[in-house]
Amino acid sequence: MALKTILLGLALTTALVAPPAMAAQLTVGFSQIGSESGWRAAETTVSKSEASKRTVNLKIADAQQKQENQIKAIRSFVAQGVDAIFLAPVVSTGWEAVLKEAKEAKIPVILLDRDIDPSGKDLYLTAVTSDSVHEGEVAGDWLAKTVGDKQCNVVELQGTVGASVATNRKKGFDTAIAKHANIKIVRSQTGDFTRAKGKEVMESFIKAEGGGKTICAVYAHNDDMMVGAIQAMKEAGLKPGKDILTVSIDAVPDIFKAIMAGEANATVELTPNMAGPALDALIAYKDKGTEPPKWIQTESKLYTAADNPQGAYDSKKGLGY
Ligand code: AHR
Repeated sequence: MALKTILLGLALTTALVAPPAMAAQLTVGFSQIGSESGWRAAETTVSKSEASKRTVNLKIADAQQKQENQIKAIRSFVAQGVDAIFLAPVVSTGWEAVLKEAKEAKIPVILLDRDIDPSGKDLYLTAVTSDSVHEGEVAGDWLAKTVGDKQCNVVELQGTVGASVATNRKKGFDTAIAKHANIKIVRSQTGDFTRAKGKEVMESFIKAEGGGKTICAVYAHNDDMMVGAIQAMKEAGLKPGKDILTVSIDAVPDIFKAIMAGEANATVELTPNMAGPALDALIAYKDKGTEPPKWIQTESKLYTAADNPQGAYDSKKGLGY
């Protein structure tokens, strides 16, 4: 038999057994905020692995915390004709024009982990996020339960100004403590979701509050700022987790280390796997036209020293935090 015939036979067999998924590989552009926190780094790592599990080609653009870079990245994804765009919006406003451009190009947009201004709801397919108001409530309820009737002055480290999660985490916490006249926020400032700023702002709170003597608790909108604040408290000769209670959000491995060392008290978990549910929704939409719900909500679980922090730490190691 001629070599040509054998090769033709082989090519036909390969074509018949090739899985159908190979035919339409999706390309998704992801406009990521940056790498301000351990949680953000893990979200990027997990997004890559969730995409590769589904043989999706994920193109990540790091915006280095700047909305203008995110807008440029979205325009570039539209120009490249990607199949979909994932957006983790650094702030909640100012998206209308660029998301209209994506919509006109018939490119579905999925929001990951943060929301945009509600007036933009028709500009995206779905949002995979936690209920960030609820996260603040969980943190506030834990504090109220822990302090009981004791007078408690709280200092608050807020996330990035204008980010939906910062606004909502504040709102939820404020609502929870409003039911308890003995608990009040005495100082509140942004630490921009970073360890360095969390430490810097905590140092100024300690100075302003008599060396920290009048502070009963710290509420931080993420664990990274809390890790910075813990450092500031230790350097000031205070005992975080004992003299001053701590409650924050994310559940990163370093906060579990601090909980195990008795230097932190509580965290509310935010899963770094936003991309998995987003990709499943996108694939169902592309393959079968299934409209996803407008909001795919992720869980918000409270962890304290009583919730096997070693186990939680072990399960998170290696996820890119
Ligand atoms: O939007 C999610 C928040 O962004 C995380 O809680 C924080 O760590 C991150 O920077």
